[in-house]
Amino acid sequence: MSRKIIGLPGDGIGPEVYAQAVRVLAILDDEFQLNIDLQEHLIGGAAIDQQGNPLPQETVDACSDADAILLGAIGGPKWDDLKGADRPEAGLLKIRKTFNLYANLRPVTLQESLSEISPLKKDRLLGVDMLIVRELTGGLYFGKKYREGDSATDTCTYSVPEIERITRLGFSLAKDRSNKVSSVDKANVMETSRLWRETVNRIHTEEFPEVDLEHVLVDACAMHLISKPSAFDVILTENLFGDILSDEASMLSGSLGVLPSASLSTQDPSKGIALYEPIHGSAPDIAGQGVANPAAMLLSVAMMLRHSLQHEESALLLEKAVYASWNAGVFTADLSNNNPVSTTQFTDSVLNFISRTV
Ligand code: IPM
Ligand code: MN
Repeated sequence: MSRKIIGLPGDGIGPEVYAQAVRVLAILDDEFQLNIDLQEHLIGGAAIDQQGNPLPQETVDACSDADAILLGAIGGPKWDDLKGADRPEAGLLKIRKTFNLYANLRPVTLQESLSEISPLKKDRLLGVDMLIVRELTGGLYFGKKYREGDSATDTCTYSVPEIERITRLGFSLAKDRSNKVSSVDKANVMETSRLWRETVNRIHTEEFPEVDLEHVLVDACAMHLISKPSAFDVILTENLFGDILSDEASMLSGSLGVLPSASLSTQDPSKGIALYEPIHGSAPDIAGQGVANPAAMLLSVAMMLRHSLQHEESALLLEKAVYASWNAGVFTADLSNNNPVSTTQFTDSVLNFISRTV
């Protein structure tokens, strides 16, 4: 049985890093008979240009019976004057909502070979290994937005079931890690955060009493991510806080260009559709130059192989190949200004490692 994967290259550096994923998948497919059926479709600014819509119906239809979606990046200055639902980003938000991709997992780890590159002192980084579990289909992103006279409003809404499902996933993931959940909110100010905290406490007591739970206010969390990042294991948080904290946390790893993500629609990703994408954006400042770091994309492919295709062996091999390239001093320009390699050269190194190993 073939595994249908929909590729959505998107905008800016999206197509450049996506092309590297295609190269790597072809080799792994050959090697492990993964039987991948990869089809490309439009999203974001590219879809606006060609079809006048950031998420064309044919893209939605193609995704609806897919095993997984692999996305590059979305947006750019070309579409900056567009508003609301006409913007490229609306395509991403709509695909998240349409396929109920409520759980965004963003692992933050530290590779020894990148520890000199992080702006943080090396001793602060020791032991950094966290998983940000970001709620992805609620909160400010999806509330009513409107203008009235000279004011603008965004509404933030969360329901108990929305909080429960992401909380259950956060706790169950913690059980396979260091058994600790830091739930991040702003319960001293926001009503949605008070409901969040109540719900997390209830699920903890009723279903996961063996997991350590702490509540952290989002402002304090932003500080602790810098002052004692190794104290975190699973960070469980709502949509906007998770967006902001994950960009901050990426600096622990060295660069925004190295962090992958998975967005799941079910607790068991082998059973429902999931979307995989780098956490970085379309980086219009470097787009078209062939210098983007493909690592976040390749590590997203590894997450896809592990979670959606349930193929741990190829996932591990790909991760090892990325890390081995860094260990060998193969860095793109975001990680080193000393003889940096191009996007394709980094992938060459990854492919070399794979063919030497299998
Ligand atoms: C992300 C991105 C998106 C988000 C943007 C492009 C809408 O920043 O995936 O983190 O805010 O969720
Ligand atoms: Mn973001």
